Amino acid sequence: MMMKFFTLLLCLVSYFGCVQGLYRPVVLWHGMGDTCCGKESMMKVQQVIKDLLPGIYTYSIMLGDDENQDKKLSYFGNINDQVEQVCQTLKNDENLKDGFNAIGFSQGGQFLRAYVQRCNDPPVHNLITFGSQHSGVSDIPGCSNNDRLCQLMRTIARRGAYSNYARSHIVQAQYYKDPQHLDTYLQQNIFLPDINNELDNKNETYKTNLKSLNKLVLIRFTEDITVIPKETAWFSFYNSEGVLLTLHEQPLYNEDWIGLKDLDENGKLEFRDCEGAHMQISIEYLQEEIIIPYLSFDISGEINSNLYDNIFEQARKKLSLNIQE
Ligand SMILES: *[C@@H]1O[C@H](CO)[C@@H](O)[C@H](O)[C@H]1NC(C)=O
Repeated sequence: MMMKFFTLLLCLVSYFGCVQGLYRPVVLWHGMGDTCCGKESMMKVQQVIKDLLPGIYTYSIMLGDDENQDKKLSYFGNINDQVEQVCQTLKNDENLKDGFNAIGFSQGGQFLRAYVQRCNDPPVHNLITFGSQHSGVSDIPGCSNNDRLCQLMRTIARRGAYSNYARSHIVQAQYYKDPQHLDTYLQQNIFLPDINNELDNKNETYKTNLKSLNKLVLIRFTEDITVIPKETAWFSFYNSEGVLLTLHEQPLYNEDWIGLKDLDENGKLEFRDCEGAHMQISIEYLQEEIIIPYLSFDISGEINSNLYDNIFEQARKKLSLNIQE
């Protein structure tokens, strides 16, 4: 009650401050084969966030001029160029100028991490990644039967993920890591070895920027068979003998190539499980495990007093999500 009164008073004193900027904005980056604006996927996610946090600004990343191009560019393109474009777009968005929270779905997760490491202007506060391929994949992801773009991507990539064409034109090839041929991977892959600071010349900016996050939340899907290995969502990967190493068993962590150890030691690195297959996220999970703990604080760090009323109201609605890989 007291809290509400106080909020009201603040609203009267600074009307504009209350109308906008109460919650930190949220930026989404969709996964492979999905788009910025699918009714049952990214649009729905934005709606669920807005229902719980009224007045919040959300932006779902779109590459190209329309939804079709956006989907195509999730398979075909140079991810370094795509990240650079996103850096420009986010920098030019007036609503984001004081920073934002970010949620990456599947490959969108490692791409948002690249945004943080390379640009981070405006800065990300909490970065949440769902089933992302942070340490790469040891097989090119499978396709649903009717997705011809995906099948085309897969045909080209499987002919040679590190070939001249695929390595700079197929998005999934740019996070393909063959544990049997790590040398080739390091020499030929144009994205992942760089962003994970696996090369001899380590970029200190990557580390400084990633360390500046308030929270890095890594979500793994317990029944994921799309992403191999599923533990790449937690930065685990195979060594050349095929043994799956946890993050803590790798130099990436022990020599702190990108700041993960620093985040971990400061309680800012979180490993979470989401029950189910790749991208099977329930509305309840989104509300209870993501929105409330990571997105519901306003810029000053307070919990907004309307939140609890909204939670009860939302709990009565039945909703469902359908998010692509
Ligand atoms: C390190 O990364 C930053 C941000 O992308 C870039 O501006 C800088 O040129 C890089 N430094 C080196 C030595 O590559």
